[in-house]
Amino acid sequence: MKRRKPRILTLYVTERCQARCSFCRIWEKGNPKDAAPAHFKALLTEARRLFGRIFVDFTGGEPLLYEPLPLLLKQAKEAGLRTSVTTNTKLYRQRAEELKGKIDYLLFSLDGTREYHDQNRGISLYDTVIDSIETARRLGEWPDLLMTVTRENIKMIPHVASIANHYKLIFQINPVFSYFGNTGLTEQDVKMMKEYIAYHKTYVNYAQLRLISRGGNSTLQPSCRAVTSQIVIDPQGRMLLPCYHHALDRLDTEGSLKKAFDSTLRRWYEKRQGTFDFCEGCTINCYFDPSFEYMRNQAALLSLSCRAKYAWLRYVERPIEEAFKNRKRGEL
Ligand SMILES: C[S@@+](CC[C@H](N)C(=O)[O-])C[C@H]1O[C@@H](n2cnc3c(N)ncnc32)[C@H](O)[C@@H]1O
Ligand code: SF4
Ligand code: SF4
Repeated sequence: MKRRKPRILTLYVTERCQARCSFCRIWEKGNPKDAAPAHFKALLTEARRLFGRIFVDFTGGEPLLYEPLPLLLKQAKEAGLRTSVTTNTKLYRQRAEELKGKIDYLLFSLDGTREYHDQNRGISLYDTVIDSIETARRLGEWPDLLMTVTRENIKMIPHVASIANHYKLIFQINPVFSYFGNTGLTEQDVKMMKEYIAYHKTYVNYAQLRLISRGGNSTLQPSCRAVTSQIVIDPQGRMLLPCYHHALDRLDTEGSLKKAFDSTLRRWYEKRQGTFDFCEGCTINCYFDPSFEYMRNQAALLSLSCRAKYAWLRYVERPIEEAFKNRKRGEL
């Protein structure tokens, strides 16, 4: 059988974070680590050689706290890789100039009204997100708004959508997953969520919603392709298997990503992805969103149609809207 390449390299550049979100406990980690820039630079070069123009997601923790981030982004772009960064925006305005043009997919996290967002994130971030949108737009960047939807904020979907609409941004729905002792979403929540999604420029993966409604991953018939679709590297440069959230093994990648990728251990995990006890009911969307692409079933088609909509919004509709706007300006 032909082996399929991963499509995402997920680099945890730092475990530090200034926020204190209710659904994420990464900030509780004692002795948080930062990545060694030289090692991560080498990983980027090797990843390009081994896997072609894959996506590199620079994450954490809060990735903007990581000083050498622009350096790594530049290296990734120069190597022909595609880059994405999701940020809580706390440092975006300070670092916007040095990040400009280096991030293909920039996402700002915004979870609801000012009161809810600031309380949920443990620090004041709502106004920072709004200011960051304005800074980004002035610099010609198009951030997407990413809303982590929980049971508490479903009714705030129109609020976040209205902000996206005001700035003509794409709005992404990120259903919360249960992991840090927090509650996930039920079938009822998903039904309710669908009723609140009205904004045209919304990206939501309906295959993911269907998975949640059906109770998440089944260990008997797993949908998870975490190991096949992604390579996840922690700040110490180790490949995490089977995934960040339930890492049972950590493979050193110093000197050779290929060696870790071709190892018997990684293959062992690839065969068993989604079948461990802790995989029962899992809905961690960072892994399922790319997993659907590796399947040959209805979920794969559904997910593909949602991605096609995103591509349309971004690469067809937005340029047309911008062209009209510029023409109108020229006529005035
Ligand atoms: C892990 S954070 C890293 C980037 C940055 N610190 C931020 O919050 O934007 C990336 C995204 O994951 C989301 N997230 C965190 N915990 C989650 C959970 N339990 N379920 C779903 N999304 C979660 C955050 O809201 C954020 O939008
Ligand atoms: S800002 Fe991001 S990394 Fe920090 S606690 Fe919140 S979700 Fe986690
Ligand atoms: S099902 Fe969830 S916990 Fe299990 S390997 Fe996949 S992403 Fe990790």
